Amino acid sequence: MLSARLPEVDQSVSIETLLGVAAQATDILNQIRDAMLEPYPRKSAPTFTSAQVASLCGIDKQRFQYLTTKGDLPAGTSKGAGRSKEFSLEEALTWIRATKERTRRPDGKRGRIVTIANFKGGVAKTTTAVSAAQALTLLGRRVLVIDCDPQGTTTQLCGWAPDAEISDDQTLLPLVYGDQTTLHYAVQETYWHNLDLIPASSSLFDAEFEIPAKVLNDSTFEFWEILRKGLMPLAEEYDAVVIDTPPALSYLTINALLASDAILLPCPPEALDFASSTQFWHLFADIAKKLPGVLEQKRFDFVNVIMTKAKSDDVSRVVRGWLQKAYGDRVLPFEIPESTVPKGASAQLSTVYDLSKPDGSTAAYNRFKEPLDRLAEHLDAQFVRAWNQTEA
Ligand SMILES: Nc1ncnc2c1ncn2[C@@H]1O[C@H](COP(=O)(O)OP(=O)(O)OP(=O)(O)O)[C@@H](O)[C@H]1O
Ligand SMILES: [Mg+2]
Repeated sequence: MLSARLPEVDQSVSIETLLGVAAQATDILNQIRDAMLEPYPRKSAPTFTSAQVASLCGIDKQRFQYLTTKGDLPAGTSKGAGRSKEFSLEEALTWIRATKERTRRPDGKRGRIVTIANFKGGVAKTTTAVSAAQALTLLGRRVLVIDCDPQGTTTQLCGWAPDAEISDDQTLLPLVYGDQTTLHYAVQETYWHNLDLIPASSSLFDAEFEIPAKVLNDSTFEFWEILRKGLMPLAEEYDAVVIDTPPALSYLTINALLASDAILLPCPPEALDFASSTQFWHLFADIAKKLPGVLEQKRFDFVNVIMTKAKSDDVSRVVRGWLQKAYGDRVLPFEIPESTVPKGASAQLSTVYDLSKPDGSTAAYNRFKEPLDRLAEHLDAQFVRAWNQTEA
């Protein structure tokens, strides 16, 4: 018969000990970061070959050569002994904006706001949010990313160390406390040209105590409007705002959802993830309809479900069917496959767009990146539609 073996020494842990463990773990993480991302500003944007720039611009090699000889666009830097050219991200973006036929955001229209949400953890919210934001810049857009998750993973991927480098007053907290009325104070440039960030750190969790405390003091306080009010004046400076949320229907998540024009729910084709996604819509809609004015006034430009970590096994096939039955056309017609590529990239605190070229197999890299490119195109087309239709 099996008998449970009792530990020979006392295994109890005090809060004091946990604080020590936390401090040691943070110290190790900072050492790893420093070793990986030296020297400051540590994370750097990828460079591009002529062929990559031409492909991003949607032009062929001949036209690229012709435009190079005209001298109006950046010529890149000669690399090595050969004649190959290397372009910085900023140079590539100049090329893209000059050559790519794309509807510009009309004057007076603000950037569209999309929130990536699902209260299930680990479904690729952050990977999708940061990748989509980077991909949108490669379409020539100016993008703001807002990290609403005290875990600060988005902040990390955007090149900042949440707890070591981000002070409380650089996060959403001053807006939550009412010390600031717009979010201009919180915007940080990142290593990625045209991609700004409102960062998070673990102190952002205080918002989940502060907001209900305010409601207790003043029952008319519109707690769901905090982010929207702070963000609107800033949204005019961007083409797109991408908000990443924590794996919870927290006060900040509700704020993000109600500040946004669109919701994207990443969902792996797993039975439990599907079940959790159905609860998410119920809970959010139940909360939202009780908030004064929201039921009558709130409309989203679009709400989509994107399959992430998709596999080709039987379970995935079945759950894919459920997702399609449940969400119909809202499920995007492309899916992000389960892949070793994001794992490899995130081990370097990076996304697939940070890698100039595949670390491993080119086919695997393309299989993972291609649906993300399509996602950015899809979002962009929806933004353009909204600019053509809406008054604001
Ligand atoms: N398509 C994929 N295939 C395999 N692994 C993936 C894929 N997409 C993301 N991952 C990995 O899954 C993990 C969780 O991803 P991510 O942090 O984006 O999820 P999340 O939903 O934001 O998590 P959280 O709920 O904790 O915020 C990461 O290690 C990431 O590298
Ligand atoms: Mg996340």
